[in-house]
Amino acid sequence: SVVILDFGSQFTRLIARRFRELGAYSVILPGSAPLERILRENPQGIVLSGGPSSVYDEAAPKPAPGVLDLDIPVLGVCYGMQYLAQQAGGDVKRAGKREYGKADLTQYGGQLFEGIQGEFVAWMSHSDSVTQLPAGYEVVAQTEDTPVTAIENRETRRYGVQFHPEVVHTPKGGQLLANFLGICGVTRDWTAEHIIDELVADVQAQVGDGRVLLAISGGVDSSTLGLLLAKAVGEKLTAVFIDHGLLRLGEREQVEAALKPLGVNLVTVDARAEFMAALDGVSDPEQKRKIIGREFIRAFEREARAYGPFDFLAQGTLYPDVIESAGGEGAANIKSHHNVGGLPDDLAFKLVEPFRTLFKDEVREIARLLGLPDHIRMRHPFPGPGLAIRCLGAISEEKLDILRRVDDIFISGLREFGLYDGCSQALAILTPIQSVGVMGDERTYSYTAALRAVTTDDFMTAEWARLPYDFLATMSNRIVNQVHEINRVVYDITGKPPATIEWE
Ligand code: XMP
Repeated sequence: SVVILDFGSQFTRLIARRFRELGAYSVILPGSAPLERILRENPQGIVLSGGPSSVYDEAAPKPAPGVLDLDIPVLGVCYGMQYLAQQAGGDVKRAGKREYGKADLTQYGGQLFEGIQGEFVAWMSHSDSVTQLPAGYEVVAQTEDTPVTAIENRETRRYGVQFHPEVVHTPKGGQLLANFLGICGVTRDWTAEHIIDELVADVQAQVGDGRVLLAISGGVDSSTLGLLLAKAVGEKLTAVFIDHGLLRLGEREQVEAALKPLGVNLVTVDARAEFMAALDGVSDPEQKRKIIGREFIRAFEREARAYGPFDFLAQGTLYPDVIESAGGEGAANIKSHHNVGGLPDDLAFKLVEPFRTLFKDEVREIARLLGLPDHIRMRHPFPGPGLAIRCLGAISEEKLDILRRVDDIFISGLREFGLYDGCSQALAILTPIQSVGVMGDERTYSYTAALRAVTTDDFMTAEWARLPYDFLATMSNRIVNQVHEINRVVYDITGKPPATIEWE
């Protein structure tokens, strides 16, 4: 294994993620982890992460005594490299020029860069630099502003890079990390199967004989978590799926069909009437969200008491949710109404969050191995308040029914034309606009449906998807022909910002 000592960089988890991608097992430990703790992992290599401190600060964090005396390769990243340099007798000072963002290496070589060719773009984020090279080290990469950008000491197998090889902005960083694994002699046979085994063992160790409650939303994270927990604790898991009546066509049946046969103890709760009653006549979007959040907690709490008591509440929190936990839009928000924070004190559960260190694509890979059908596994995100925020203004059974049919035509169409996976999210919106049309010989006065599809990496900003005109024409035809309440279809060509992805 590789032990990653964390000195507080926001990218430390990314280092582990890159190693997983390269098929290598790694463990993140606190930067000050004692030597015995590190040795328990049988480390073949150590990475010292970046961090916000300066090595010359009084309180600068350091590895525990003895760690750097181990006769195994060590890679220092950013702060880690500065620490290595200082500890070996070199010097680190505030840089003349602070370097932040992409930089081209003007030259590079050495073991870490072996086999790498062409331009090397390195992502930098530092205000300190190594100003004096320690004995035994040589400089193996430079940029215009930073003469000492990478160092190595082949004899002691100590390596350092000032940039961050783990971020995507360093496109060839993966090769560099692979080279480090090679230097360590780490076998690269760590797969998603191993990750599942590890997660199952961790959950079993945490939960013991306790009972676990999980809210299933129908999305990939909670569904995959359901499968993982079923594997780990079997009948001790109760997975609650609340049908609030704001789901898409056939969604409830799909979730049941996907999870029940794979052994998930799934309880489906029909709460449609309560939600509809609570939302009656409410047209303000934020008010709708609040009511749905409140009703969700109420229903979930009731089921928790009915099937309880439970010791644990499982959540499908992913690593990006953890770093975004400060709130705001996007990923962190998506889970807000499932949050344990909304539950009363006497339902005090301990949290089980097996996916806390994983990224979405890794969860999808785990889902594949656990047998989750592709239509759920690769599904676009769907908001907790569901169709309520896509049916503009006050909702009604009738409007939801119209929207459900339009949405189904659009989403099925995207799949049929092979366009679904190219979009990050696609949705249909039922507007309150009624307009005049003509069908056969008759004048119509019916609703306008809007279609929206976006591409985005993080849902904070998004572009409208350039769907082919012919496809849009087909969708428009199908919708007005099959959904008689609609006589006009528009496509949303607004980015985010200034628009949001949802219309409410
Ligand atoms: P917006 O509309 O803010 O959406 O651009 C960004 C992402 O967040 C989802 N979204 C929500 N998810 N509850 C949720 O669980 C909400 O109230 C909510 N509002 C927006 C939206 O679907 C998109 O993926």
